[in-house]
Amino acid sequence: VAPLKLGIAGLGTVGAEVVRVIARQQKTLAQRCGRGIEVTAVTARSKAKKRGLDLKGVVWAKSPLALANDPNVDCFVELMGGADEPALSAIEAALRAGKSVVTANKALIAKHGTKLAELAERQGAALNFEAAVCAAIPVIKTLREGLAGTDVNRIYGILNGTCNYILTRMEQEGLSFEACLKDAQRLGYAEANPSFDVDGHDTAQKLSILASLAFGTKVAEGAVSVEGISSITPEDLNAAQDLGYRVKLLGVAVRTKTGIEQRVHPTMVPRSSSIAQVMGVTNAVTVDGEGFSPITLVGPGAGAAATAASVVADIADAARGLRALPFGRPVAKLGTTKKAPMERH
Ligand code: NDP
Ligand code: HSE
Repeated sequence: VAPLKLGIAGLGTVGAEVVRVIARQQKTLAQRCGRGIEVTAVTARSKAKKRGLDLKGVVWAKSPLALANDPNVDCFVELMGGADEPALSAIEAALRAGKSVVTANKALIAKHGTKLAELAERQGAALNFEAAVCAAIPVIKTLREGLAGTDVNRIYGILNGTCNYILTRMEQEGLSFEACLKDAQRLGYAEANPSFDVDGHDTAQKLSILASLAFGTKVAEGAVSVEGISSITPEDLNAAQDLGYRVKLLGVAVRTKTGIEQRVHPTMVPRSSSIAQVMGVTNAVTVDGEGFSPITLVGPGAGAAATAASVVADIADAARGLRALPFGRPVAKLGTTKKAPMERH
């Protein structure tokens, strides 16, 4: 069987690690997928930048769109970020050509996911985005496939590694918000624009994707009520501690009588609760539904290795010709959000 030929757009924190993992895991992946996986072509903003990658024999495409249209590329891997261009046109071009697409871009899926999912379905092409939510945690697969036969009532959790890392270090080490954010950026956890993390928008994007999978709502970041963590001080965290609580930035999507309510806000959780034990860059997602006890998935939520693991898993699915169940077909109604109700976690 011919190898799956990859075109990778974006060679930053995630993209460079994906190239390394594909090289390191070549044999294992070939055994697991029944065919080889090769990096055929790549692109990024700067060709001259030193990346510590062996790209001998790999074509440098002149743009993401040229890469997506390259007839030698079977699977287009988008790791540039950004909700719109150039990622959107390149992904559309790849899907129109019937190629499989893998992306870690939650901003783009949250904004254009429904439209892209329809295009993928029409073209019989795979659109996979496991790494877009909670990095290494296979939460998309869990909702899309594992829980396909269930009715979900609520899905909530810690969906942003940068914020949980900042809150953890502020509480444990008394460091300032700014110092912790700088470290999160240095470690490759934060978005290119870190206000997406700390203002709660990254969590809102991820929540809208999870809600769409869990409830069959239209992916709609605009339907999420959002409050971030940038005004939280070490004193606030100490005060919560004195009362027996810990502060976590939660994303919550819940079925109500009037529709699916989605919100993101800092939440005081009892220090004895399991969600309060989730520290550092770790994420946790709990799914509550009819006929089963809550399921919680916990794992690394950001960073090169964690994210590349999920991107490579999606690539392996593409190599095996697997197409996930449809996504983004609106069946449930979106609700409006009442401000921060009391809730048990
Ligand atoms: P980086 O900023 O580290 O890398 C972005 C890469 O894309 C760089 O190689 C950059 O080129 C390239 N790029 C950006 N704009 C363009 C453009 N217009 N044309 C061509 N290439 C471009 O980002 P990350 O690797 O951290 O993130 C990539 C994606 O993965 C984002 O969607 C992010 O949300 C998502 N993600 C990131 C996680 C993380 O922990 N970092 C976790 C989960 C998802 P150059 O290097 O030349 O500047
Ligand atoms: N900036 C994101 C985070 C990356 O910190 O969670 C993972 O999606």
